[in-house]
Amino acid sequence: MTHNTDDRRLAVIVLAAGQGTRMKSSLPKVLHRIGGRTLVGHVLDHAQSLQPEKVVVVVRHERDLVETAVRDAAPEAVVVDQDEVPGTGRAVEVALEALPGFAGDVLVLSADVPLLEVDTIEQLLDAHRAAAAAATLLSAHLDDATGYGRVIRDADGEVARIVEQKDATPDEASVTEINAGVYVFQTTELRSRLTQVGTANAQGEKYLTDVIGLLRESSLTVAAAAAPSAETALGVNDRVQLSEAARVLNARTVRRWQLEGATILDPATTWIDVTATLAPDVTVLPNTHILRATTVGEGATIGPDTSLVDCEVGEGAVVTRADATLAVIGAGANVGPFAYLRPGTYLGDKGKIGTFVETKNSTIGERSKVPHLSYIGDTTIGRGVNLGAGAITANYDDLTKHRTEIGDEVHTGSHNVFVAPVRIGDGAKTGAGAVVRKDVPAGALALSVAPQRNVEGWVEKNRPGTGAADAAAKARSAQKADDGAQEEDR
Ligand code: UD1
Ligand code: CA
Repeated sequence: MTHNTDDRRLAVIVLAAGQGTRMKSSLPKVLHRIGGRTLVGHVLDHAQSLQPEKVVVVVRHERDLVETAVRDAAPEAVVVDQDEVPGTGRAVEVALEALPGFAGDVLVLSADVPLLEVDTIEQLLDAHRAAAAAATLLSAHLDDATGYGRVIRDADGEVARIVEQKDATPDEASVTEINAGVYVFQTTELRSRLTQVGTANAQGEKYLTDVIGLLRESSLTVAAAAAPSAETALGVNDRVQLSEAARVLNARTVRRWQLEGATILDPATTWIDVTATLAPDVTVLPNTHILRATTVGEGATIGPDTSLVDCEVGEGAVVTRADATLAVIGAGANVGPFAYLRPGTYLGDKGKIGTFVETKNSTIGERSKVPHLSYIGDTTIGRGVNLGAGAITANYDDLTKHRTEIGDEVHTGSHNVFVAPVRIGDGAKTGAGAVVRKDVPAGALALSVAPQRNVEGWVEKNRPGTGAADAAAKARSAQKADDGAQEEDR
């Protein structure tokens, strides 16, 4: 739906200039993330989905960092700088300079109120227009209103003004209806009232909220729309509220995928970024993180205790107790338990990366298996390969990385080291314990271990009196008695 019919033009201002002191962070508050997206990114998403004719974002604290994030999320937004006059009112005033001559409705969003839903904003706009109000604010009733501006109503129950926590009398502070920091204004009225707002308050700031009282003093209509739930209005000012917002957003995301056909056993310990996607009949087991641009194919099972970052998981794959970043896991493949897939891992369909295996920058072909205790780096493995337990690709010679190439249908013995650069031809085999330093031709058996030599009696001679020597002596006399008995039987 667009809100730019001729008589009802819409612009959006996003306030993102504040320092976010209560976060105690070197990162600007609005760049902290929930659900894998920055707070300001969430708010810009809301702004854009309304298709306004202009989005203006006000920045100041760490302005370059914030501007970069804004450009990422909303390339068409206009970024303006707040000056040294502090306060949300000043922020809106500088934003309005980027909307010269604009006389429609302006929606003001706070970059630290990330849980609004677009429906709620639509309802706010509808209420504003239905009431022909000069301003309409989103309000909510909170059990604990600490920190928020309170909505003060007059004897008729109309919104009279907003008072900030720090300026509130004890009576005012006992009000539980709060200002969510989200408003629609008739732009011309907003412009003229802002010039009347001063900074004579507890924080020495030019408050946007003072505009509400000024509009009422001019006998203009101020409406309030109730947020559908307290959590919708949650403002993020400190890390406690950040984790609360993350939890609420995650609960929504989990629920959305459940309704799309994913089985998610334990929503409380499953974290899914807003950018990830799950196909129908995916099963997610507890303690699992599905992050960034990860996609999980139909019927796959992920978890428990698994973290996937920017991964692609094929249909029907099973990923158990694994940590993977920038990896592709083929259809019907099997990963874990206890596997570490680093960037550039490609596991083919029906392949396996098993227990205590680390992979990096490697392709493991269709039906190929690296089942146990291995490190595979900078390697290309063909189809139908089985690497014995303890396979190590020695890809680094202290100076540079080299590649290992393993052909199709290769089976290697346990505990092999492949000293790269090296190539194992199709169908080749290697013996246990081989250190493969030279290429192995197709179909060859590579053995690099010297034939075993047993030095009889070494322990009794060189370690007399030890437990080992005693055990060896016992075993040898038992063997002798055995041999004697067999001699008699003959
Ligand atoms: C503000 C409201 C309060 C409301 C609450 C809702 C005011 C005076 N108070 O309080 O009534 O209950 O939000 O969450 O508006 N910002 C700027 N420039 C500034 C100061 C802030 O752009 O000079 C931005 C911040 O980056 C933030 C937003 O405005 O995104 C709100 O600022 P903040 O300082 O968090 O206001 P609150 O104290 O939460
Ligand atoms: Ca705030």
